[in-house]
Amino acid sequence: MTDLATLETDIQAAIARAENIGHLEEIRIAALGKKGSISALLKTLGQMSNEERLIQGPLINGLKDKITQAIETRKAQFSREAMRERLISETIDVTLPSLPQASNQGRMHPIPQVIEDMSFIFADMGFAIAEGPDIETDFYNFTALNIPEAHPARQMHDTFYFEPDDKGNRLLLRTHTSPVQIRTMENGKPPFRFIAPGRTYRCDSDRTHTPMFHQIEGLAIDKHIHLGHLKWVLETFLARFFELDNMSLRLRPSYFPFTEPSMEVDIQCSRAHGTLQIGKGTDWMEVLGCGMVHPQVLKNVGLDPELWQGFAFGLGVDRLTMLKYGIDDLRAFFDADLRWLKHYGFSPLYMPHLAKANLAGGGA
Ligand code: PHE
Repeated sequence: MTDLATLETDIQAAIARAENIGHLEEIRIAALGKKGSISALLKTLGQMSNEERLIQGPLINGLKDKITQAIETRKAQFSREAMRERLISETIDVTLPSLPQASNQGRMHPIPQVIEDMSFIFADMGFAIAEGPDIETDFYNFTALNIPEAHPARQMHDTFYFEPDDKGNRLLLRTHTSPVQIRTMENGKPPFRFIAPGRTYRCDSDRTHTPMFHQIEGLAIDKHIHLGHLKWVLETFLARFFELDNMSLRLRPSYFPFTEPSMEVDIQCSRAHGTLQIGKGTDWMEVLGCGMVHPQVLKNVGLDPELWQGFAFGLGVDRLTMLKYGIDDLRAFFDADLRWLKHYGFSPLYMPHLAKANLAGGGA
């Protein structure tokens, strides 16, 4: 009969010599497989006398258990080693700069990028961001803004209307972001200081008009807000947007039913030698409408105009983007031409210049 102790020593030595998992599996089959050496011994138990089996049974089964255990231990050792090797060979240096192509894929369209830049500047001045729906009711787009039925200002807006419902009410595509003034004041408590960027729609199309365009509305309501605040906010905003130290504005009297007094704001520019330069020269260019909120508008949202007052403005995002980046046809914004986007679009990693100034410790 095979000497159990010798067999055990042989198998244990083989296990210790095994160089890999495949090797180990061969040893396992040779010992514990169907035709393995230990399995053969187990089969001999059947032919033994009861007394002999009582002695040999535990010995052979004990050997089987010991070998099974030794194989498992060695196996675990192999997988730990394999893991350690993988960890060493697969290290990634996360501090390496990303591949230039990867960070350069795709371009941000100038409009959302500029809206983000503008919002950043206003946020820095303490303005929150409000939103309202593109599809509006007549009430929010006109009536609540002191533009009653049959007011000539309604005709000036070239409104897109939906089909009237059973009661004859027509929804419309908002013609300006001013309805967000009403919605936000209705749902909150004064003081207010917010901007509302968004899409606006008018039935109009040429080099400087598209049926869909973008505005940023601004509103500040408090107890002592006056025109000087409005002028400072606009000067500061426009200087920061055009990345200039300061900006000369011209405020011209104008008319909007929801502000009194109302003004249009021009920025200083030069068209000398066929190039447009902002912030210098003797020309002026209109960029936004604004004014002190009309007392009737305050009453319409339940505010007492004896107590509360403030300013509102509405600026054309597309127009200001064209001026800053020298884009001369507004319609190009909506052509979805990849070549145009590659030229005028922004890198996905672009950072607003104000953010960069703040990071540099400059503040503003
Ligand atoms: N809503 C006006 C427009 O679209 C702009 C504006 C907003 C004017 C707020 C004054 C105050 O033309």
